[in-house]
Amino acid sequence: MRTNIVHAGAGELTYEIRNIVNVGNQLQALGVKVNWENIGDPIAKGEQIPGWMKDIVAEAAQENLSYGYSPTRGVQSTREFIAAQTNALGGAQITAEDILFFNGLGDAISKVFGFLRPTARVIVPTPSYTTHSSAEAAHAGDAPLTYILDPNKNWYPDLDDLECHVKYNPAIAGILIINPDNPTGAVYPESVLRAIVDIADRYDLFLVCDEVYQNMVYNGTKAVPLATVIGKRVPAICLRGVSKEMPWPGGRCGWMEIYNGHHDCMFEKYIQSILNAKMMEVCSTTLPQLVLPKVVTHPEYPKYLNERVRRYEKFSNIAYDILKGLKGVLVNRTNGAFYMSVVFEHGLLNHKQSLPIVKDEVRATVEKMVSGPGVEPDKRFVYYLLGSTGICVVPLSSFATSLQGFRITLLERDEETFTRIFRTIAESIRKYTASV
Ligand SMILES: Cc1ncc(COP(=O)(O)O)c(C=O)c1O
Repeated sequence: MRTNIVHAGAGELTYEIRNIVNVGNQLQALGVKVNWENIGDPIAKGEQIPGWMKDIVAEAAQENLSYGYSPTRGVQSTREFIAAQTNALGGAQITAEDILFFNGLGDAISKVFGFLRPTARVIVPTPSYTTHSSAEAAHAGDAPLTYILDPNKNWYPDLDDLECHVKYNPAIAGILIINPDNPTGAVYPESVLRAIVDIADRYDLFLVCDEVYQNMVYNGTKAVPLATVIGKRVPAICLRGVSKEMPWPGGRCGWMEIYNGHHDCMFEKYIQSILNAKMMEVCSTTLPQLVLPKVVTHPEYPKYLNERVRRYEKFSNIAYDILKGLKGVLVNRTNGAFYMSVVFEHGLLNHKQSLPIVKDEVRATVEKMVSGPGVEPDKRFVYYLLGSTGICVVPLSSFATSLQGFRITLLERDEETFTRIFRTIAESIRKYTASV
């Protein structure tokens, strides 16, 4: 090419949660029976959509209107419904005009960061859900700016670290919060959220708060909606969606709620640019927006959601009890969403450790995959775990962190299988770390 056509941020776009699937598929073709514990898709893990929910979708599919474009911001009645729900929380008061629908939060996230001035940065948590951290880094053409989630303190944000970054880096224009969090499963206390709002207020920043797991909390915790603590000054974008809760990840439907959108004229212009970008695409998919109010107000919905949440709670405790005593390993009980991040003590992993793999072909493939330069020690562990046991998890180092470990989902529905998987992981960690 006579001129460079590659975006400055192209190198930041990596997504190991799906990359690992290629590795799993290769090993599966060699006869490994894979347990996919890498991706947060309840449907892929066998979640049964109840008949009444399918009936609502089927009914909507009979309506001609479901096949048409919707307004750019989204279906008016659905936005009014959501605004009323948010207003009923008693905090931020919004109208349907403060809501904007997207084709899944993935679409919203790429617009949030894609339409930000390249020199303006949003500081993201570390570890971080990669869609956010990669999109932010790609927009800036640089590595993500991060604040620490502390595995020694329930994975809560290190507020001193956050404020220090904000104070000394004037390029930081916003702070990303994910609550409940992916990949850690943490749910933040109200005081932490209030402290972050306060930092944003004092340094004149905006907030992005991803609440896609808002109604999936347990072990006695409560997810405090940003709307209830934001106050009247700090501009904020709250992200919510149907992928995890309904769950309908294939529906590609999520939305943005804007709080204090008119408080700052630059923020107002920025939000307008996101709306204009959506306008150029016309709108987001209509059908999931049309059914959303009917699904979440259905008398069976709370019971259905509660059953799932109680299962995650039970399984979070099974996982925690199996892994908590392991030498050199740091785990926190998952309190929300459906992920657990397991951290290895610094220096525990090296490039010589391995797990036994019976089949020659599988062993040779794994050895080849981990032999290249720059393979993180936790990636090596994850590949050996996959080759040796068929359990597919994601290296923690791929979540914008220097911590070594892995992320696993709690989505396996069968308790016996789930328990076996976690016992096998515990045994594999013991063997792997003792192997040299
Ligand atoms: C924190 C968080 N936000 C957003 C998403 C993506 O949601 P969507 O399916 O709406 O793109 C995910 C998916 O795993 C997630 O974990």
